[in-house]
Amino acid sequence: EVGRRPPLSELEGVPLPAATVDNWGQIQGFEAKPDDLVICTYPKSGTTWIQEIVDMIEQNGDVEKCQRATIQHRHPFLEWARPPQPSGVEQAREMPSPRVLRTHLPTQLLPRSFWETRCKFLYVARNAKDCTVSYYHFQRMNQTLPDPGPWEEYLETFLSGKVGWGSWFEHVKGWWEVRHRYQILFLFYEDLKRDPKREIQKVVQFLGKRVDGPVLDRIVQETSFEKMKANPMTNRSLVPKSILDQSISPFMRKGTVGDWKNHFTVAQNERFEEIYRRKMEGTSICFCTEL
Ligand code: PPS
Repeated sequence: EVGRRPPLSELEGVPLPAATVDNWGQIQGFEAKPDDLVICTYPKSGTTWIQEIVDMIEQNGDVEKCQRATIQHRHPFLEWARPPQPSGVEQAREMPSPRVLRTHLPTQLLPRSFWETRCKFLYVARNAKDCTVSYYHFQRMNQTLPDPGPWEEYLETFLSGKVGWGSWFEHVKGWWEVRHRYQILFLFYEDLKRDPKREIQKVVQFLGKRVDGPVLDRIVQETSFEKMKANPMTNRSLVPKSILDQSISPFMRKGTVGDWKNHFTVAQNERFEEIYRRKMEGTSICFCTEL
């Protein structure tokens, strides 16, 4: 039905798409493998970007090989469910090892087998204010998520954690706290923006790969915002308009640090910072941007 947005369901207090909650048994029972690599992010934190970087590294900078499928199809999205299509879990089961998987799940909801097999995790965090802005525009255009309403209302929804995959604060804190207990490479969107070469090198090393200088340079170039915005295999232009209406807001929207300054009023910023300080008290996490 045109114009109807399904509400989110909830699992252990975390809002999630209803189909994900309906499929929870399958997700929870997922069998991870020790050579899995799991890309973990809070939504709108640079998931697609790090996916393309990982694939470019695995294909040793071969652009053509990275064109074999859309980014959504290259790496199964663990909690994705849209019956009767194969779920993310089913896609992952079909995938030959070593697998690269993608999830937005917070630590408390991650299937146990991932912790038990001690596979590798790549976590990308993005500063909370830019995440809010990016998520707002994404909810405007994503017809499968609730309408965000006006910006000032959405800001409150975000701060109260009543958005898909829950509270940014809980998500980032949860993954930050376990980063030394498991094989987790914890990256920041802002660092990737500032020095992509250095951050990509960290990923190369973490994956136990080697890439030559020219290949590394190509990976940096091909994963730039401009390239990925123009690339149909990464820009979601092949997703039907009934799901992602890019005439409302493009999936590859701005790709910058600090766009929050174009959205937050002074009062909204003060309120956000106060809540931020309270929620993040006691954590050592530090974003390389003004908070
Ligand atoms: S999703 O839907 O959760 O998977 O979205 P995700 O990919 O995590 O985040 C989308 C935002 O990341 C920006 N993006 C990039 N920024 C810089 N460089 C590159 N290559 C890049 N690719 C994607 C994208 O533009 C979204 O951010 P905003 O601020 O909305 O532009």
